[in-house]
Amino acid sequence: MKILVTGSSGLIGSEAVEHFDRLGHEVTGVDNNMRRIFFGPQGDTLWNLERLKRAAKRFTHTALDIRDRAAIDDLFQVQRFDLIVHCAAQPSHDKARDIPLLDFEVNALGTMHLLEATRQHSPEAVFVFLSTNKVYGDAPNEIPMKELEKRYDYARPEDFNGIDETCCIDRMLHSLFGASKAAADLLVQEYGRYFKMNVGIFRGGCLTGPAHSGVELHGFLSYLAKVTLTGGTYSVFGYKGKQVRDNIHSHDVVRAIEEFAANPGSGEVYNLGGGRENSVSMLEAIERIEQMSGRKLNWQYVEEARKGDHICYISNLGKLKRDYPNWKITRGLDTILEEIIASQWQQLK
Ligand SMILES: NC(=O)c1ccc[n+]([C@@H]2O[C@H](COP(=O)([O-])OP(=O)(O)OC[C@H]3O[C@@H](n4cnc5c(N)ncnc54)[C@H](O)[C@@H]3O)[C@@H](O)[C@H]2O)c1
Repeated sequence: MKILVTGSSGLIGSEAVEHFDRLGHEVTGVDNNMRRIFFGPQGDTLWNLERLKRAAKRFTHTALDIRDRAAIDDLFQVQRFDLIVHCAAQPSHDKARDIPLLDFEVNALGTMHLLEATRQHSPEAVFVFLSTNKVYGDAPNEIPMKELEKRYDYARPEDFNGIDETCCIDRMLHSLFGASKAAADLLVQEYGRYFKMNVGIFRGGCLTGPAHSGVELHGFLSYLAKVTLTGGTYSVFGYKGKQVRDNIHSHDVVRAIEEFAANPGSGEVYNLGGGRENSVSMLEAIERIEQMSGRKLNWQYVEEARKGDHICYISNLGKLKRDYPNWKITRGLDTILEEIIASQWQQLK
């Protein structure tokens, strides 16, 4: 296959490049290192691009900006892709507040450019969009919770397996990022339902792995490990540090994309996170990383929670497992943390 990966120097994009390259496909990556513009030098992804160039055999990279409609159209005219894995984004809900127009242009308009170029030039291709659980806004916070010693959890047995795709996406607070991603999420669905194209939407929980260029505003476990190893102060915002995230390794994300690409739907939506087994609260994550790294983290508590933050978010993976029974979580939380810590040590050398 000829595969386009946008955001190819980022966490998920780079995992997709390596995975599909290993399988013998021809992969084109688009990434203009905009993560550095969003987050400064710590967000720079060039180290990952260099790593990819060494590791992948049939990979070509272009530093295109997905906001550049003409350039995207030109690329699609020349290449005729079979699969588009769209991972380029402004990925932080806190950051969007400072750059609302840029956030919208990258997340919503950039997605539209890619969808339309696909429809014009490769209408039979499979298009996969990395969406986010932030499209559900505050709705998951309305589920009754119980407070345990180190984490919040759902109070009712029927919520045990987490949030499924029927969760409401409108009439509540999202953060501007949640709204720009929801716009893109709906547009991608529409290209499936209206134009009958092969498009799929994965609403990510906490996507993580060793290739993350973690920064305070994005890449929770990666940044937590980085601060634990390098010193400095980590800030925990609100909910007593008991807020829960479900973490999925980038490899398992790409495996879900691969399964979908082999047997695509037209506008299907899937929640994709680590599920209950890979869930962890801030307090628990700090404790585990300290134990595994042998370092003590210096952290402070900030009373005010981040706007649009989830108190407890666990992805219900039932629909994905039903539709793609070959897919499963292969990396548990300890393995994920070991890999992240090892990668952070490596980058410090
Ligand atoms: N990491 C998570 O926890 C998480 C959770 C839910 C959803 N997601 C979604 O998954 C996708 C991938 O996330 P990630 O963690 O790999 O992010 P990332 O920031 O590591 O990767 C995104 C890449 O896109 C590139 N990029 C940004 N704007 C661009 C533009 N205009 N043109 C070309 N390239 C551009 C960046 O330089 C970066 O390398 C995103 O859509 C994100 O919203 C991520």
